[in-house]
Amino acid sequence: MKITVIGTGYVGLVTGVTLADIGHEVTCVDINEAKIKLLNNSISPIYEPGIEELIKKNIEEKRLQFTSNLATAVQISEVVYIAVGTPQNEDGSANLSFIKEASKKVAHSLIKDSVVVVKSTVPIGTNRKLEKMINQLSNYNVSIVSNPEFLREGSAIEDVYSGDRIVIGSDDKNALEIIVKINKEFNVPILKTELESAEMIKYASNAFLATKISFINEIANLCEKTGASIREVSKGMGMDTRIGSAFLQAGIGYGGSCFPKDTAALTQIAGTYSQDFHLLKSVIEVNQKQQLKLVEKLLTIYPSIEDRKIAVLGLAFKPETDDIRDAASTQIIKALLKQKADVYAYDPIACENSQKLFGDTVKYYDQIADVLDNAEAVLIITEWNSIKKITAKQFKKSMKNPIVLDGRLLFDQEEMKNESVSYYSIGEGRSYV
Ligand code: UGA
Repeated sequence: MKITVIGTGYVGLVTGVTLADIGHEVTCVDINEAKIKLLNNSISPIYEPGIEELIKKNIEEKRLQFTSNLATAVQISEVVYIAVGTPQNEDGSANLSFIKEASKKVAHSLIKDSVVVVKSTVPIGTNRKLEKMINQLSNYNVSIVSNPEFLREGSAIEDVYSGDRIVIGSDDKNALEIIVKINKEFNVPILKTELESAEMIKYASNAFLATKISFINEIANLCEKTGASIREVSKGMGMDTRIGSAFLQAGIGYGGSCFPKDTAALTQIAGTYSQDFHLLKSVIEVNQKQQLKLVEKLLTIYPSIEDRKIAVLGLAFKPETDDIRDAASTQIIKALLKQKADVYAYDPIACENSQKLFGDTVKYYDQIADVLDNAEAVLIITEWNSIKKITAKQFKKSMKNPIVLDGRLLFDQEEMKNESVSYYSIGEGRSYV
């Protein structure tokens, strides 16, 4: 089938590339011409394992092309996907200006009846409004289908082929069947729903996962006080298949471009219906506090960290991405700089993005040794493999004071103790610090 995907951000690019890979003829559109140039040279503007190989392969096999010309792309396609960003407004609500703009352009470009698929995360009820708007602006009949995405950054390609479900919502049964057919080759269970249900499934899923994380973090904080170990507790809880072991990893909270934005939007949406979503508000509050746990702990060890060299290992909001949006690292670095610490940070790929925020107030390195050397404490922020491999001996040998504050539960407590490293790990009632 001939498909156009509008927006080559994270969602749009992965959608376009994988649809091409299962055999569709895909044109990806973006207003950013520099991006289009990169993509036509098989260079991905986002870091995502495996994506460049797929871009190259599908361009070569003539199933994938990139352009800035939206009108032509819409006119040559049978189905149009919209996958533009819906960033957060100051009041927490989703900013719909990009999706409205894209929908208007689609409406003005149409030369036949069409199906428009919305991948972007939008507040419940938005797709129905967009459908009305497009139909008012064009002379053709347009059916909207909501097809939210459930991909995780860093494993997005893998997630497309081994997802738990594909959700497709629409009022138009014919449109639904067209999109079911497009997705068949992915071999993933398909759930057909009403338009509003599809929109809600996306928000509710992210909100539920965020809730699991804040819940386990609260339990971790209680473990510290009561002498229990969160590592054992998470394991024991996760063995109950009714609970499940996923998203029970305690630490310094969730970040990224999705959970913080979508939880804020859902509480805001509830508010517009006069529903006070207490539970989700607490989830957000717990997360904000949790991101600063390590700094809090550090200040109990050193009442002043002014001019002390503090090492920060990991900047990305999780491994296998260079994304630092709403990452714990940004809150942590801000707090350390406020206390006038000398901050040295390591990340294998996210330094550049962090540097755009903090400039030369932070010293950035892509070698762990440079950051640990002579440091008076180290904060473990992201569970990169390179960080997991550091040994207690290395901490002991390189640092001025071997104080390790672990926000991702990466190291063995006994090993640290044997090397006389002061080790604090979130949720451990028996930390050696
Ligand atoms: C999340 C969802 O997992 C995807 O299903 C969804 O499609 C995506 O948002 C989205 O809405 O676009 P993502 O933000 O890429 O995906 O990352 P996750 O792997 O879910 O991790 C989010 C954050 O939670 C990370 O900061 C991670 O460190 C943290 N986390 C995750 C924990 O603290 N504990 C856990 O047990 C799991």
